[in-house]
Amino acid sequence: QTDEAETETFSVPSYACQRRTTLENHNTVLTDALSLLAENAELSEEEGRGVAFRRAAAVLKCLPKVVMDMTQLRGLPCLGEHSLSVIKDVLENGASSEVEATKNSERYKALKILTGIFGVGAKTADRWFRDGIQTLHQLRDSGQTLNRAQQAGLDHYDDINQSVTKAEADIISEIVEKAVVAVLPGAQITLTGGFRRGKLTGHDVDFLITHPEEGREEGLMSKVVSWLETQGFLLYQKTTRNSYLEAKDGPARPASNMDRFERCLSIFRLSKEKKRGAELTETLTENLKTPPSCSSSHVQQGGDREEGGKPWRAVRVDLVVSPISQFGFALLGWTGSKLFERELRRWAGREKSMSLSSHALFHNKQSRYLRATTEEEIFSYLGLEYVKPSERNA
Ligand code: CTP
Ligand code: MN
Ligand code: MN
Ligand code: MN
Repeated sequence: QTDEAETETFSVPSYACQRRTTLENHNTVLTDALSLLAENAELSEEEGRGVAFRRAAAVLKCLPKVVMDMTQLRGLPCLGEHSLSVIKDVLENGASSEVEATKNSERYKALKILTGIFGVGAKTADRWFRDGIQTLHQLRDSGQTLNRAQQAGLDHYDDINQSVTKAEADIISEIVEKAVVAVLPGAQITLTGGFRRGKLTGHDVDFLITHPEEGREEGLMSKVVSWLETQGFLLYQKTTRNSYLEAKDGPARPASNMDRFERCLSIFRLSKEKKRGAELTETLTENLKTPPSCSSSHVQQGGDREEGGKPWRAVRVDLVVSPISQFGFALLGWTGSKLFERELRRWAGREKSMSLSSHALFHNKQSRYLRATTEEEIFSYLGLEYVKPSERNA
């Protein structure tokens, strides 16, 4: 390497939505360190700090080479004093003392375990931690009241904390497709979330459901859920009705990043039978044969699920129904990554005076909605080059 190469600097635009971030990350040691601090901030409900670390990590994710030297970071956006000192520590000492201390702290370890329970957020985990609860054992023994989601989360803890593979996502796609077509012929499903961005594993599987005729999608979710339930595919589900009213919720609520689509957060029971082609029928028979167990394997049986364990596993699945008129926005909003979405909305608001949601794009100065049917049109309204899903891994 020449001197010139060693001091080479990079040029990166400030908003993640102006960049192409693939899954190829040359700086995982640095981005892992910053992501851990982001996660710790989020667990402590310090959202601002969390976002700052996420943005810093995202800048490093899109660099074309391994960073060897602090001088290469000159002029890069989003790298605050704190992030720079963490990076410096890693480059000079191989690890960041702050990251190591965080990782080993009782609080971080406990909050990680507790928020690993589906239905448990930072607030609840922190309350339990302050009550002296640090493990699942202690939680079980504490007599804390769990809601239905948390109970299901605890029952299926090990499965849910094991990542979902693309192969499993594909099997679930087939099942959801079959359910959707059975209850409404012509309805369409699209895989969204991390798998649409090309990830090979995920913490759940996300789907967007629509119908090419506006209005036909109404009432679809409850029918899909009933079908899945009857076939024995659901261990848990909670459906939330669509609460979006354009006139009320559109421009009036620009700060809200929660969308209002009809959605279903669920836990699927996925048969481990892998024979392709036959798996759907086999899954069906398998499901009807063995009723779902309600005890977690976490304490009793550890990791022997492959041999002699249960012939199925629990997988988190999110279903969202969108009317076709909002499909482009819904697709863009549910493809992620979370930081990419956040940056799109920030760009829209600060640079374009527009309000972007998973339902619509509103031009604040012209006081009107900008209609779009594809993601490409939305990027174009926003004055951004189109970024394809596989490049949204910020
Ligand atoms: N999302 C959302 N509202 C929620 C939850 C998620 O709009 N209440 C969106 C997120 O903004 C993201 C997408 O749904 O764009 C997928 O979220 P999630 O499944 O949490 O993350 P993934 O990127 O799919 O990553 P993972 O593999 O961990 O699931
Ligand atoms: Mn996901
Ligand atoms: Mn996630
Ligand atoms: Mn999800």
